[in-house]
Amino acid sequence: MTGRPPPQLDVDRLIDDRRTRIIVCCGSGGVGKTTIAAAIGLRAAEHGRHVVVLTVDPARRLAQSMGLTSLDNTPRPVQGIKASARQAGNEAEPAGSLHAMMLDMKRTFDEIVEAHADPDRAAQILANPFYQSLSSSFAGTQEYMAMEKLGQLRRADEWDLIVVDTPPSRSALDFLDAPQRLARFLDGKLLRLLTAPAKVGGRAYLRALNAGFGVVTGVLTKILGTQVLRDVQTFVSALDTMFGGFRERADYTYQLLRAPGTAFLVVAAPEEDALREASYFVERLDTERMPLAGLLLNRVQQVPAVHLSAARSLAAAEVLQAALSGNTGHGHPATGHPGTGHSGTDDDAAARLTIAALQLHADRMTQAAAERRIAGGFTAAHPLVPVAEVPAQAEDVHDLEGLRRIGESFGSP
Ligand SMILES: Nc1ncnc2c1ncn2[C@@H]1O[C@H](COP(=O)(O)OP(=O)(O)OP(=O)(O)O)[C@@H](O)[C@H]1O
Ligand SMILES: [Mg+2]
Repeated sequence: MTGRPPPQLDVDRLIDDRRTRIIVCCGSGGVGKTTIAAAIGLRAAEHGRHVVVLTVDPARRLAQSMGLTSLDNTPRPVQGIKASARQAGNEAEPAGSLHAMMLDMKRTFDEIVEAHADPDRAAQILANPFYQSLSSSFAGTQEYMAMEKLGQLRRADEWDLIVVDTPPSRSALDFLDAPQRLARFLDGKLLRLLTAPAKVGGRAYLRALNAGFGVVTGVLTKILGTQVLRDVQTFVSALDTMFGGFRERADYTYQLLRAPGTAFLVVAAPEEDALREASYFVERLDTERMPLAGLLLNRVQQVPAVHLSAARSLAAAEVLQAALSGNTGHGHPATGHPGTGHSGTDDDAAARLTIAALQLHADRMTQAAAERRIAGGFTAAHPLVPVAEVPAQAEDVHDLEGLRRIGESFGSP
């Protein structure tokens, strides 16, 4: 692909700009959102900012290394933050801090109920089986809660930068769509109808019946059973005091996402599917007038010896292989005598190692070329979107040192 290179995304500049108050890391499943969010949080803190990272489902070892051992919805201080070299030389500027929390969807939901309903009502709702399954399994609750929590953290105003990781949904768009969908469901028509009998008694119920509601309840009763239907009715009538609340809160946070000071980072792996999702997301942010900082291409294959092409590398491997086969043909076959041809055996071993290295290099070159081609496709479609690359690390990222290494690739080019 010979397209024009994309503008460079300078993540450090984004982090160091005090006007940046919220960074949202989004992207499709498994691309590294949680890792990147944590790495950005750490780097920003080590650059002197007071940061809170809101993570969703971090891998256990990563969570442990950040001191996240319980799901209690409370930001916990992360130990082991160092002032960066730049900071260390500057006594006047105090070092930053990092807090991290894991999103506990059910707990956040409970907190909203407790905040909106009087204690008896709250207890009634919390104990309701319908509520319990809704709060932990309804599609979109996790996205709604991530936004809800973001709103709360912003209102608390204790941090000067909030980094948000988004839930592992198939589509990155879910993060934007799910809260509205859930809010619509919660103050939707069906639920209003269901509350009618509980609210105003029999006569309204009869009227509703005439309006065809009876058919609905009839069917629902058959499908769900009377007990469940009663649960739904109690739940919704208790939630009634909160109607409007969910929608309003989802709207508030949505506005927050459009406000100056918010930056979206779309994370993607250099693969077709991930970049297709990233493309949709970038377009959607544009329609919503939400501030896109750029695309972070994560796990990009690095090749040290770029001047050695995959083809030449493979050719060399073949030559060596042929020589080696020739050797073993004449020299010391499998039945060989341990005492003979010492240097030959060593040479063979070295040749085998070299062949493996050449093949590995060729694989990497081929992969890197494929990645460049795929990334080039994205840039051709979105030539103005700034892009930064994060190299693939040799192993999973599970501690502060690993996060720091990722952060180093944010350094200004
Ligand atoms: N640059 C990298 N190099 C090597 N491994 C990485 C890199 N970035 C992420 N990983 C690893 O990839 C795995 C997935 O990363 P992560 O959990 O951050 O993805 P995610 O987008 O949050 O996934 P999900 O959508 O499931 O939440 C983790 O094991 C992580 O350590
Ligand atoms: Mg994740």
